[in-house]
Amino acid sequence: MFTKDVYSGRRAALKKEMKNGIAFFPANNEAPFNYPDNTYIYRQDSNFSYFFGLKHPDLVGVIDFDSGEEILFGQEVTIDDVIWCGPLPSLQEQGDMIGVSDVRSFGKFGDYIQQALAKGRTVHLLPTYRGDTLIQCAKWLNTTTDNVANYHSLPLIKAIVKLREIKSDIEIAEMEKAANTAYYMHTTAMKMCKPGMIEREIAGVVEGLSLSGGGPVSFPVILSVDGQTLHNHGHRNVLKEGRMMVCDAGAETENYYASDFTRTTPVGGKFNQRQREIYEIVLKANQEVIANTRPYIPYMVMHTLACRTLIEGLKGVGLMKGNTDDALKVGAHYLFMPHGLGHMLGMDVHDMEGFGETNVGYDDITPRSTQQGFSCLRCGKTLKPGFVVTDEPGIYFIPKLIDIWKAEGKNKDFINYERLETYKDFGGIRIEDDVLITNDGCRVLGRPIPKTVSEVEEICAQGREWIKMQGLY
Ligand code: GLY
Ligand code: MN
Repeated sequence: MFTKDVYSGRRAALKKEMKNGIAFFPANNEAPFNYPDNTYIYRQDSNFSYFFGLKHPDLVGVIDFDSGEEILFGQEVTIDDVIWCGPLPSLQEQGDMIGVSDVRSFGKFGDYIQQALAKGRTVHLLPTYRGDTLIQCAKWLNTTTDNVANYHSLPLIKAIVKLREIKSDIEIAEMEKAANTAYYMHTTAMKMCKPGMIEREIAGVVEGLSLSGGGPVSFPVILSVDGQTLHNHGHRNVLKEGRMMVCDAGAETENYYASDFTRTTPVGGKFNQRQREIYEIVLKANQEVIANTRPYIPYMVMHTLACRTLIEGLKGVGLMKGNTDDALKVGAHYLFMPHGLGHMLGMDVHDMEGFGETNVGYDDITPRSTQQGFSCLRCGKTLKPGFVVTDEPGIYFIPKLIDIWKAEGKNKDFINYERLETYKDFGGIRIEDDVLITNDGCRVLGRPIPKTVSEVEEICAQGREWIKMQGLY
């Protein structure tokens, strides 16, 4: 946890943004895995954590924007808790840890919120994403689960986005930690990327390294030689020469800050000619974005720059054709990159997307596009110093998608379908970095993970010895 002034400061900042009413923030409950006492690793709700810091269930944080009151509803520690979990602070001590002096019994929260509603007070709630929290909220608000949405508050969402989108120095330090753990996760995966390895053998090590670094992975590890499937969690393939392994993985810190990096490694450590050609195109897109990203330009402009680079590159290898501007306008690149350049990153790997992608990634100045190849961008809004976004271009050869487009003759003026047939066994390439917007530009967080062709081949070569020492190959 951070010191209490961090949490009181954040609540004070929220009070400045909100005009009136009461906001309540339920903590996450334990989530059972296969029976009630066997739970997933506990993960606090990010918004609760942002304002109230504590890392366990059965808590509700309240902020009254009219009176300025702050209340923590929670359970007193029982002897059973101590027996199973060890010594724990009392409820009052927990309040002290986050600068809230008014602590009350968890069981009293329903009455508290009912009294507020009876007085005609406005109640602000954030969208829920867990069924049990939704049921709890329905009970507290004395309504149906369907009607809980009536309390979702756009003013509260907008106010919190405004705070959480700008990362403070202590948050950036956390994200650096997460990025440095990702360095070990990715370089180890590269070293293990040898013919005969099974994907799960590498994915398991990658996940374990995150835990060793202080927290679980920030999302389930994506690791596959079938990199054309964007989120491939299969992990069953045996690695063979001539294929490439996409590894998209990140770590979470003790305070829930995330990293999210992707590297693509040739099995056996050497790119062949065709792989290198496509890799260099994706790398160029990733690097041009880093070279041009700076405050006060919309990230949509960087997405467009990346797509333009991909089209130019794909024209260079004979897979696309025609006028680049025209291809870009109709989003013909979507066949090769059916996702956006990136998303915001923070306490959630797709930061704050529980509020709705568009509420987080767009603003009044930059509305979300409806155009193929652009509507898929999760974050298009104007960048500000303190934002952290991902820069993750990719080129994928998805046989089914190619077949559908080809049958329809879709964007045939821009795509060389005949040549594309010979790439259906290629897989995919993605390269992803976490980028902090600074006052005059940007910088990639964490220790640089090998990325150029020669850097990747070099770390793979080191891996030969390393992997023998581990008895893994
Ligand atoms: N790294 C997973 C994603 O961005 O969707
Ligand atoms: Mn990502």
